[in-house]
Amino acid sequence: MAQILDGKAHADRMLEEIRQAVATRNATGARVPCLAVILVGENPASQVYVRNKVAACAKTGIRSLEFLLPETTTSDKLIDTIIELNTNPEVDGILVQLPLPKGMDAKVMLQRIDPAKDVDGLHPMNQGLLLQGQRGLRPCTPSAVMNMLKAYGVPMKGKRAVVLGRSEIVGKPMALMLMEEHATVTIAHSRTVDLPSVCREADILVAAIGQPGFVEGSWIKPGAIVVDVGINRVEDLQLGERIFTHDPKKLEALRTRGSVLCGDVRYGEAFEIAGSVTPVPGGVGPLTIAGLLTNTLQACQNRG
Ligand code: GUN
Repeated sequence: MAQILDGKAHADRMLEEIRQAVATRNATGARVPCLAVILVGENPASQVYVRNKVAACAKTGIRSLEFLLPETTTSDKLIDTIIELNTNPEVDGILVQLPLPKGMDAKVMLQRIDPAKDVDGLHPMNQGLLLQGQRGLRPCTPSAVMNMLKAYGVPMKGKRAVVLGRSEIVGKPMALMLMEEHATVTIAHSRTVDLPSVCREADILVAAIGQPGFVEGSWIKPGAIVVDVGINRVEDLQLGERIFTHDPKKLEALRTRGSVLCGDVRYGEAFEIAGSVTPVPGGVGPLTIAGLLTNTLQACQNRG
């Protein structure tokens, strides 16, 4: 039976540290850190994420500004909003919630954010700094996952790490951060031949592909550390019956509530074989927000 890596508890500790740092700043009369969040359109999942981010700001004493722009917003209008926030001296962090509506090029938009305010760490300047192992703002999810793995004392030096997924926001930066800690890293993805055997080599397996229950227990090396970045809503009972064979409570919840959240890993199977595993929900999700607020505080401190 695996140890549960409690992302929620770790995120709460990170938020408490941020709250104390903000209070200490405030006591000196320094400016209150401020995060601007831009949401374009009405994607329901994005609305929930933005609400959670704003609520976490309030918990830690960080100011937040919300910009809710209609689905019909033009790229030029979004760029104008970003430029205005770049020049606003009160604003430390700018987050453009992804995905953007069809027709908007996220890469083009993100390049317009001042790298000093890029709390998602997705500007090419910050990506370059990460690639070179230099200080900069780093993507929230992988940096908070690393923070938690270090806190749990997970050994990384010389270990085999497999990152499933090659996104700019999780997979690629996660691989770089694991490499920085001297792990031997493989990035695997949907086109990788024989994914199960690649995964079975992993002492540390990070799943970030966005497919419910994709990683089966038999893909996991006994005793491995499994980090599940996926947050997927499962509504299909037949799919649930395949995924939750070792998770009767989840299956029951799916039957009674009509949907459940599920990671990229079959948690019930992983629990039997892994050394440690993050649950979904309560694993990586809360860490992402803690990473965002850490970056906002860092951006504020950097700007003075
Ligand atoms: N959409 C899903 N996750 C994220 C994130 O970490 N940052 C942004 N900006 N959008 C997201």
